[in-house]
Amino acid sequence: MAVERLQKILSRAGVASRRKAEDLIVQGMVTVNGKVVMELGSKADLDQDHIKVDGKLLHAPKNLIYIALNKPKGCVTTTEDPEGRPTVMKLVRGMKERVVPVGRLDYNTEGLLLFTNDGDFANRVTSAKSKLEKVYVVKVTGQLTDDQCEQFRRGVPIHGNRTAPAGLKLIRPQENPWYEVKLIEGRTNQIKLMFSHFGRLVEKLRRVRIGFIGLEGIPPGKCRHLTTREMERFRKLLKMPEPGHDN
Ligand code: URA
Repeated sequence: MAVERLQKILSRAGVASRRKAEDLIVQGMVTVNGKVVMELGSKADLDQDHIKVDGKLLHAPKNLIYIALNKPKGCVTTTEDPEGRPTVMKLVRGMKERVVPVGRLDYNTEGLLLFTNDGDFANRVTSAKSKLEKVYVVKVTGQLTDDQCEQFRRGVPIHGNRTAPAGLKLIRPQENPWYEVKLIEGRTNQIKLMFSHFGRLVEKLRRVRIGFIGLEGIPPGKCRHLTTREMERFRKLLKMPEPGHDN
């Protein structure tokens, strides 16, 4: 690793977004080699320096890893489940570095779930500010009216906060129809709550795309590494700094 700004090191290590990492620094929560560093321009080297956040030592991932999993139903998106249910971690075993899920899919939701040890990437993929599109197909208990579709697209209140504008397209009209939903945010149970706002229940839910990554060639329960070219594309799309550049 090179000498880099502290906030970048923190966000890459998955501590927080850059913005929040800056807050941690100015709040005096970060030490470098035992000294509190509160200046935002400060630099350090994760390989050479002992960097602690709230007393916890940061470790440098040796290789940055990016994985796409086709999550099946019946597993929880967490690294450990206190209730002992199967977790998605059993499907990404054998990686050289410890990876964690990027965002989450519910127990019975299937489809595309990314994993990484690059905290900065994870923060950017999940942040609504990045406007990265996540596409889902969803089967619900009954069609929405045209007016309800318009409301859904404009945003509906969830726990007192309106959802961001969303895409909605009827793709299989039937008694219990299928819709394609496009979101840029990922609030807990968002799609279920958006449909339940109109009295519809979600029967099946699958995420089919994140940005330009789809499920093609990944059978359920299997995963693959993202390619260098895909990561270059993501870096541009998410305005991530080039590896090794401190900006
Ligand atoms: N929306 C939901 O309700 N659940 C998911 O798993 C993903 C999006």
